[in-house]
Amino acid sequence: MKLLITGGAGFIGSNYVHLVLEEHPEDSITVIDKLTYAGNPANLEDVQDRISFVHGDIADADVVNDLVAGVDAVVNFAAESHVDRSLENSDDFIRTNVQGTKTLLKAALDRAGCRYLQVSTDEVYGAVLTGHSRETDALDPRSPYSAAKAGGDLLVRSYFSSYGLDAVITRGANTIGPHQYPEKVVPLFVTNAIDGEPLPIYGDGQAVRDYVYVRDHCEAIDLVLRKGRAGEIYNVGASRELNTIDVSDRVLDLLGKPRTLKRLVTDRPGHDRRYSVDWTKIRELGWTPRHSVDETFDRTVRWYETHQPWWRSIKSGDFAVFYERWYGQRLASARAGE
Ligand code: NAD
Ligand code: DAU
Repeated sequence: MKLLITGGAGFIGSNYVHLVLEEHPEDSITVIDKLTYAGNPANLEDVQDRISFVHGDIADADVVNDLVAGVDAVVNFAAESHVDRSLENSDDFIRTNVQGTKTLLKAALDRAGCRYLQVSTDEVYGAVLTGHSRETDALDPRSPYSAAKAGGDLLVRSYFSSYGLDAVITRGANTIGPHQYPEKVVPLFVTNAIDGEPLPIYGDGQAVRDYVYVRDHCEAIDLVLRKGRAGEIYNVGASRELNTIDVSDRVLDLLGKPRTLKRLVTDRPGHDRRYSVDWTKIRELGWTPRHSVDETFDRTVRWYETHQPWWRSIKSGDFAVFYERWYGQRLASARAGE
């Protein structure tokens, strides 16, 4: 199969490129990535001779139309992906997550027989205080990030319903592992802890997320790409409900660092209290996460311990400006986390 993988220089996208090269060496891969602050060519360095890489924007119809004209499937990872940044300014979120998705959909429709997979998120359901979100539930996104992702999902649904595009959607839970930009909670906590810096925990630290290892998430996406039914949505979760205090304790314990590094800071505005998906449907398709919660955290922490040049170059660059802007005052007025 000839694949166009968008956002392939980012966290999950680059892990997915590696999975396809290992599991389906007969496939050919073209990556399109805008190389935003979150895109990193180093994530694809070891496979650069085995893929075709295009530095481009999924909202640029000229570039996208040419690329999609030569493939059998589009797997769309490209997105602005960080909730906190969407709270500061959502322009790029709307452009990429909505307009970019629509540009890809139109190109896929014009390419007869092209399958389209939208990599989406459990955040489109909004916070669920009890029970588990099912694929048929109404959407209730509450941040500009998740609202833009929901907009993308609805466009995908409309291209299936209105034009019969062979489209599928995955809605994944919080994913961790190698190559995740250290703005997300786990790599932020791991890298701060390695340096003996405080871990900023929003609010009371009781917000709950379900943590999935990135390889498992990629296997789920790959299964849906190859076996998912057109027009269907598949939740991807692992039923591990950890709050932020649990996450920080796991990270500190794995690194042998003191729990006194925890700080309770001013909450994220609109912070969703809990996400939890029902993933029966993808289990029935044949997927289950292969990594336990302990393996998921252990592998992630060890990767950051052994790949310090990768994240140190990020944290010493533009990220430092964002960190000071977002966390400076929060940490100055923080309370001890225990
Ligand atoms: P990421 O921020 O690490 O990577 C996003 C990639 O997209 C980057 O390489 C970036 O350069 C690229 N990109 C951004 N705008 C682009 C544009 N206009 N054109 C081309 N490329 C562009 O994100 P991630 O965490 O790897 O997430 C990938 C996808 O998975 C996203 O769609 C996200 O919504 C979804 N998702 C993420 C998680 C998670 O926990 N990280 C969970 C569920 C779903
Ligand atoms: O659920 C899937 C989503 O998971 C993806 O769609 C998003 O792209 C991805 O960023 C992630 O969103 P979250 O907002 O859940 O992830 P984040 O790592 O930002 O935060 C996870 C939890 O940790 C959340 O409850 C907020 C909390 N947190 C986060 C940061 C960055 C803190 O307490 N302190 C922090 O500094």
